[in-house]
Amino acid sequence: MLSTAWSRRTLKFYAGVSRRWLSNSPLGKVRRAPPDKILGLTEHFNRDTNPKKVNLTVGIYKDDHGHVTTFPSVAKAQRIVDSHEELNKNLSYLPINGNEVYSKRVLDFLYRESCPDNAELLDKDKISFVQTLSGTGAVAIASKFLSAFISKDVWLPNYSWANHQNIFSKNGFENIHLYSYYDLSSGQVMVEKWLQELEDAVGRTDNVKTPQAILLHACCHNPTGVDPTREEWHTIIDKIHELNMIPIIDMAYQGLESGNLIDDAYLLRMCLAKGGWSNGLYLCQSFAKDMGLYGEGVGSLSIVLPPAARVENKLALDSQLKPIIRSIYSSPPGYGCRVAKVVLSNEALKQQWFRDVQNMVQRLHGVRHKLYENLQWPDLVNFEKQHGMFYFTRFKPKQVNELKEKYSIYLTNDGRLSLSGVNSSNIDYLSTALGKVSEMK
Ligand SMILES: Cc1ncc(COP(=O)(O)O)c(C=O)c1O
Repeated sequence: MLSTAWSRRTLKFYAGVSRRWLSNSPLGKVRRAPPDKILGLTEHFNRDTNPKKVNLTVGIYKDDHGHVTTFPSVAKAQRIVDSHEELNKNLSYLPINGNEVYSKRVLDFLYRESCPDNAELLDKDKISFVQTLSGTGAVAIASKFLSAFISKDVWLPNYSWANHQNIFSKNGFENIHLYSYYDLSSGQVMVEKWLQELEDAVGRTDNVKTPQAILLHACCHNPTGVDPTREEWHTIIDKIHELNMIPIIDMAYQGLESGNLIDDAYLLRMCLAKGGWSNGLYLCQSFAKDMGLYGEGVGSLSIVLPPAARVENKLALDSQLKPIIRSIYSSPPGYGCRVAKVVLSNEALKQQWFRDVQNMVQRLHGVRHKLYENLQWPDLVNFEKQHGMFYFTRFKPKQVNELKEKYSIYLTNDGRLSLSGVNSSNIDYLSTALGKVSEMK
């Protein structure tokens, strides 16, 4: 008796403590965040027991057998790393700004090979560079740097990679503006509307006290797969230059547009040719997709200084990037960068890498053609504008849901479909389901 009364009192006491804690403590008020828009779907997919299930959500390249592949060039580089004492024995920390040889090779690849007309930027030491934790790390470091020193306003395309808003808002940006990019009804880029919006908001100098940043997808726009034409890019670059905006080029898919890594750096070339970006040009680059080094976290951030910048300005930038990196992950991971460094240092391997990227893109083009044969959707093969790993179905949420619930076919909620998940074994099943769902009103 005594013990039951005692335990009732104890429970009551603790229930009171819990209620007080919930109402008084900020920790008790933390609510669940929504699941990640893309990776949350894969968790759902993994639980699906339908043997015909197809995951078309994540941007990871898979071969025609549905396997995530290691590119032959990368596999060879891994063997070289494994078999050389001096390459695989030293597992100590990298410097905060990354491995020196990796940095040199990447700078050469980006600014001598991809942008030969601007190679003098390297000779004149006008580029502040750090190895980053993949493309996400590059965008995050750029955001922290810009928001600390230059601007807390950024313009993102509507639509964009879902993580962009998250990165900028978590790294000091106070104002995140969206510019019209993609017209859902026509499937076209809305350049005129986009530039008019910038003109109206940024062009009025009395409204704008600090320069504003703008994020540009270098190619293979995610999620729509639709990029402006070269002529349109000229107009866009002229306008953002005139408005003294700060270009942040997000180059996560170099090579996946044309199959040629060098050709696909066209936006960087065009922006460098324009030149004179008074608050710098920011390039966030990743080897996740074009070397298949997804989980290894290999990328870079470079800040191209304007011609008027002095040695001291470059040294100041170099020094300021370091404490930012140090506060987040201290220094970048080593293994992936050793592999990338070997690919970039060995001419035969580099050529093999170029062929590997070409082969990947050829398979993706083949998938587009086969889906087109089955579905007759012209955008699938509109190669002047439609590029890369993703096809934007323009399906409504209820159609995306129908695909998931009825056919166990998973697209991202905005209707983006990763072509790399399509293969000979599932294309007929997929085409039938996509065709049926497209007829839904
Ligand atoms: C547009 C865009 N930017 C950046 C990234 C970052 O890629 P990662 O951090 O895997 O290099 C991605 C990855 O999906 C992307 O789609």
